Amino acid sequence: MKILLTGNSGLIGQVVEKQLRTDGHEIVGYDLTEGSDIRNTSNVIKAGIGCESVVHLAALLGNDERENGEEITRTNLLGTWNVLESARINAFRKVIFMSSVDALGIFKGEGIPDYFPINDDHPCRPANPYAISKKLAEEMCYSFRQTNHISTICLRPPGVWNEKTYFDIIESRKIRPEYEWVELSLM
Ligand SMILES: NC(=O)c1ccc[n+]([C@@H]2O[C@H](COP(=O)([O-])OP(=O)(O)OC[C@H]3O[C@@H](n4cnc5c(N)ncnc54)[C@H](O)[C@@H]3O)[C@@H](O)[C@H]2O)c1
Repeated sequence: MKILLTGNSGLIGQVVEKQLRTDGHEIVGYDLTEGSDIRNTSNVIKAGIGCESVVHLAALLGNDERENGEEITRTNLLGTWNVLESARINAFRKVIFMSSVDALGIFKGEGIPDYFPINDDHPCRPANPYAISKKLAEEMCYSFRQTNHISTICLRPPGVWNEKTYFDIIESRKIRPEYEWVELSLM
């Protein structure tokens, strides 16, 4: 199958691309590092010609303390819109969108879950630009599926890391110790 893979130069994208190629799929990579901008509607539509599905990973993650809500919104929401437009115009069979557990608004101490174990019905209270962009992009996928009858799958991984990420997290906890997880009974 020919698959459009956005964000294929990133941490997750590189691994996904390798696995999909191993599984015999043809990959059309789409990443800013290769000069392909997810914010460019006509280019995203062109990239999808001949593809049957898309795995949409391209995003700004908002890990930076100086995170720019405008840029995150532009990349993550307009980017998802463009991917869905490409899926509609090129008649894809499936859209897989990498959302984030951040959409729930409970991952980094912003709030506590209403109940455990959480499920897909748990309310979302996203509390920063990245989390809001992920929740709204999920809604976009939902509306798109209702209107266009193309299957959309939204995934919410809590953390996909490599060794460098562990190091970065340890360093960031030194700067913001309130990000550290503690048992509720100790709070
Ligand atoms: N890594 C995690 O722990 C984690 C957890 C939850 C969700 N996610 C989601 O998974 C996806 C991939 O994350 P990652 O960890 O590989 O991040 P990453 O930053 O390593 O990869 C993101 C990729 O998107 C590309 N990109 C950014 N802006 C772009 C633009 N305007 N046009 C085209 N490409 C652009 C970047 O160049 C990069 O290669 C993201 O959507 C992220 O929100 C990641």
